[in-house]
Amino acid sequence: MFLRNYWYVAASDAEIGRKPLARTILGEPVVMFRTEAGVPVAFEDRCAHRHLPLSMGKLVGDELQCHYHGLRFGTDGRCVRVPGQEHVPHNAKVRTYPLAERYHWIWIWMGDPALADPEKITDFHWLDDANWGAKSSYLYVEANWQLVVDNLLDLTHLAFVHDTTIGNMALAEFAKVKVDRTPNNVTVTRWTINHEPPPTFRKVGGLTGKVDRWQIIDFTPPAFLRLDVGATPTGTGAPEGRRVNGFTMRNLNAITPETETTSHYFWGQAQDIDPKSPETTNKIFDQIQTAFYEDVAVFSAQQKNMNRFPNSPQVDINADAGVLSARRILSRLYDEEQAAAHVVAAE
Ligand code: FES
Ligand SMILES: [Fe+2]
Repeated sequence: MFLRNYWYVAASDAEIGRKPLARTILGEPVVMFRTEAGVPVAFEDRCAHRHLPLSMGKLVGDELQCHYHGLRFGTDGRCVRVPGQEHVPHNAKVRTYPLAERYHWIWIWMGDPALADPEKITDFHWLDDANWGAKSSYLYVEANWQLVVDNLLDLTHLAFVHDTTIGNMALAEFAKVKVDRTPNNVTVTRWTINHEPPPTFRKVGGLTGKVDRWQIIDFTPPAFLRLDVGATPTGTGAPEGRRVNGFTMRNLNAITPETETTSHYFWGQAQDIDPKSPETTNKIFDQIQTAFYEDVAVFSAQQKNMNRFPNSPQVDINADAGVLSARRILSRLYDEEQAAAHVVAAE
């Protein structure tokens, strides 16, 4: 199940250059490159002639030349040159996809190009903001994209999967959890009051005594999870909005389906402890990255087992409240998109 009429992260800005990059997104092979002026371009990764992946070709100026018989395609996807003949067949063209560059990411629109409004790109400004120290990265996930969404909406798993970094038992046993829903959004707010900080908070946040810890998870479809997380010494007023002597981080996640069983996981970490210090940013990033490697191992093991036991029932627990709300939204949006597509097809 893929939602098509959304902006997805296709690549980091540094990945797209003058060497064509192949990436499968929502099951479709895509090739991306930049023009000489630096504008990112995306084509379907299939030559109109004999279907060689265009990503095997090379750029000649702003034209992508196929590796096999040398047809060249301009940035609008139209063939502009066929070696050895004057006439360019009018149907020699490849599909193009709208792209936008924002927050150090390249965003792609896989749905109806007429609906591709860059204003709809989900806000990840923390990755590109002088008030925050931020670093982002990419993980390849051998699992369905919704397993990653589930993971970020239920943070009780930190106590078990990430007990050497950002987790401890207090999170699973004592957090007060509230789930707020709107038609297209879920917010899970978790407070763990007057408990020991986890290892990462001691190491990089300098918090040694008991803390009040918050985890505010914002889910925006299809697969954007922006977490406002942090802690302050207990009793200093964080639950009332007074965040002093502690720190705040944003854990930022954009998941892009590759296939039904594999995903591109773009993520970043922003921090306000010492925003101008790459050293602090890197230290925090490394801690979170350690935790994310642990998640990725869980996702692929889950997916493997789901393949081995197809259609086996699952049991829900209280901690799944946010997960289930998000799944309901996604399945409604999918139905709406399918219904709209059928109306268009019938017209
Ligand atoms: S397959 Fe691309 S030019 Fe022939
Ligand atoms: Fe995790």
